[in-house]
Amino acid sequence: MVGTKTVTFNKPLLKGSLKVPGDKSISHRAIMLGSIAEGRTAIKGFLDGEDCLRTIEIFKHLGVSIERNGTDVEIYSPGMGNWITPTEELYAGNSGTTARLMLGILSGSSVTSTLTGDASLSKRPMKRVTTPLQSMGASVSGEEGGDLLPLSIVGSKLKGIDYHMPVASAQVKSAILFAGLAAEGETVVRETAVSRDHTERMLKQFGARLEQVGNTVRIQGGQTLTGTDVIVPGDISSAAFFMAAAAMIEGSEVEFSDVGLNPTRTGILQVLRQMGAEVEILEKHGETGEPYGVVKVSHARLEGTEISGEIIPTLIDELPIIALMATQATGKTIIKDAAELRVKETDRIAAVTLELTKLGAKVEATEDGMIIEGPTALSGGELKSYGDHRIGMMAAIAALVSEDAIHIEDPSCIAISYPNFFDHLSALVSTCVEE
Ligand code: S3P
Repeated sequence: MVGTKTVTFNKPLLKGSLKVPGDKSISHRAIMLGSIAEGRTAIKGFLDGEDCLRTIEIFKHLGVSIERNGTDVEIYSPGMGNWITPTEELYAGNSGTTARLMLGILSGSSVTSTLTGDASLSKRPMKRVTTPLQSMGASVSGEEGGDLLPLSIVGSKLKGIDYHMPVASAQVKSAILFAGLAAEGETVVRETAVSRDHTERMLKQFGARLEQVGNTVRIQGGQTLTGTDVIVPGDISSAAFFMAAAAMIEGSEVEFSDVGLNPTRTGILQVLRQMGAEVEILEKHGETGEPYGVVKVSHARLEGTEISGEIIPTLIDELPIIALMATQATGKTIIKDAAELRVKETDRIAAVTLELTKLGAKVEATEDGMIIEGPTALSGGELKSYGDHRIGMMAAIAALVSEDAIHIEDPSCIAISYPNFFDHLSALVSTCVEE
């Protein structure tokens, strides 16, 4: 049965400091690279959310030993060449990152497997990954010509490819780079705009050589990796919900500690500034691997803005919460070039438009974005999460600026990326009433 959660606040104020859970993208990659590599990998700050747990389970089925104690993970891997053929289907749950990156990894392995997912993931396009993989020699087959899960993968000898990506997607780029690592010869991936580069950074941490020039990455096949220690910074995509809340609510001021500051992910900070919020970087560390630091966000009068072009991949997951923030800003906010939102855990353009409109916001959906006119007073109401964690969190944050309570249908999906979201919400907000 799908539950409902009621969230209501009386004159809320956000004050204090927050350490958000580990970065989802980096947590997945740490498990993947720790399992591809030979030997011991120790991860600190791992995100124990549903999606990343699915990645761990998959590698256990491939014979990798993975012990998790909360956010500490220890991996002992025999190395990719010694994985065992799984006796069960590999279930990626709701996780697009698990499915797409695993396709790249499994294609060049020596095992035969079947990859499955939940109802939402089984509708999401996989061809963007299977097409380039098949031209590298991968044997992947399934429904709709290999576009939809479940997919069967017979690990094969791959050859390098020179690939121009039609969409800026870190999942596609990473799948090809992982396949390229196992392939013969050189693999080149060319992007139209730079997407998150966690795979590239972490491959280097595990001892791989790769070359990055502008929007192009090159990797030589046949490299072996060695286990290492990985520290996962806080997920800026999770922090973004509370950053937007602090920006919207008068008198609020929140410090985010140990939050990831990789420049391919910090578009949200630029948009907060563009809209008038105060954003200060108080500390910055980790320049050699994944940058992280302390960021303070304070309220200011917000103005509408335009968000389009190359910044989109650096804030793609933040667009639902940015849309909510735009309902409280003066003037028009135009979001363009974000058609990718239509193929996320749900169609996020349709979901955000419908749910915010229910509260009285003025939101128009376009083919590749949204136009939001503000400021509007928001009423309370019944909002759906669509089983999409980021829509669920947007609904909860909307309760901070709505006149009445918000009832969220199916809030459990929030655990996909932020298991302790509601605890953090009540800890940060002074006058929170929840049922
Ligand atoms: C991710 C990349 C993005 C993002 C997703 C995580 C990743 O997807 O939306 O939540 O970890 O590589 P795309 O690569 O499809 O844009």
